[in-house]
Amino acid sequence: MNTFGIDVLAEQYISISREKELKEVLRRFYASEIFILGGGSNMLLTKDIEETVVHINLKGIEVIQETDDFVDLKVAAGENWHQFVLYCIERNYGGLENLSYIPGHVGTSPIQNIGAYGIELKDHFLSCTAIHRQTLSFKTFTAQECEFGYRQSIFKNKLKGQYVITSVSFRLLKQKHQLHLEYGSIQETLTQKKITKPTIKDVSDAVIAIRSSKLPNPNELGNSGSFFKNPVISGDEFHLLSEKENLRYYKISDNAYKIPAGWLIDQVGLKAYRDGDAGVHKDQALVLVNHGNASGEDILNLAKFVQSKVKERFNIELEPEVNIF
Ligand code: EPU
Repeated sequence: MNTFGIDVLAEQYISISREKELKEVLRRFYASEIFILGGGSNMLLTKDIEETVVHINLKGIEVIQETDDFVDLKVAAGENWHQFVLYCIERNYGGLENLSYIPGHVGTSPIQNIGAYGIELKDHFLSCTAIHRQTLSFKTFTAQECEFGYRQSIFKNKLKGQYVITSVSFRLLKQKHQLHLEYGSIQETLTQKKITKPTIKDVSDAVIAIRSSKLPNPNELGNSGSFFKNPVISGDEFHLLSEKENLRYYKISDNAYKIPAGWLIDQVGLKAYRDGDAGVHKDQALVLVNHGNASGEDILNLAKFVQSKVKERFNIELEPEVNIF
């Protein structure tokens, strides 16, 4: 149930398929006694779980509003993210195609504002509904209230651990799709296939091809996608470092430069590095992998080693993107 494929034991496990059951469980246990589990794709488990695991398996996709131009969909938290993207592509609902093939559940997608190939969840997000773990009242959060940032939201910060998201609503375009092909090698992939007027399905297929060529399939090799966030450094730090390093970067503003963490790890020679069954992926150094029987501790030790090597050479602190328990 975790894409890293780490074996730990849970004291107790409850699968939730109705909101009523969720309310009942939250009523029965103290907030500190439960461990909420979604798709298990953004976590590293380093020890047995003493709490009761509450697995959110709420299902269903509902059209809440529709015009000739757009459709608003309300999606239950336990729906698989990629299956939902495919549902949209099949119906020609545009917006999420660049976010194809991301593991995990819809309900956890706002927590870290998932993003890929120039698009973030927040770009098509309308609202999400969540239940408060103590008062048991439901609240609907608008995009503004979610305080989205790069791999950030209020649910990771101020409201951490306080709410369980039960559904997420999106606004998607039925026509005049706005394609984003500029990021990564999407355009290159389309050109190779001689596609000159791409549809959202073509873009989704291109993203699936790019992701599968670089990122390991968790069913074959345990991983949690990018293990670290791409660090953002100040203008001063950037200029100082540029004097001795030929940095790869994206300029955000005069005082903020994003440096690809995968590139940093690659530069310190750790791509494909392996310590027992804990390893750095051979094609994308930002992804840590479990070659078989690594424990959460093994992966965590490897992560610390990677952090120290990058710090030593670049004086940059890598911050994990994955939640560590
Ligand atoms: N690079 C290297 N060596 C490596 C890996 C990357 O030199 O081993 C260089 C690449 O050549 C490229 C740059 O680093 O110039 C960036 O690499 P890439 O385009 O693969 O993207 P990323 O910044 O490493 C981010 C997201 C991914 C997302 C891709 C595409 C984060 C932490 N990660 O990765 O998200 O799929 O962009 O948009 O922002 C995830 O969050 O789990 C995830 C996979």
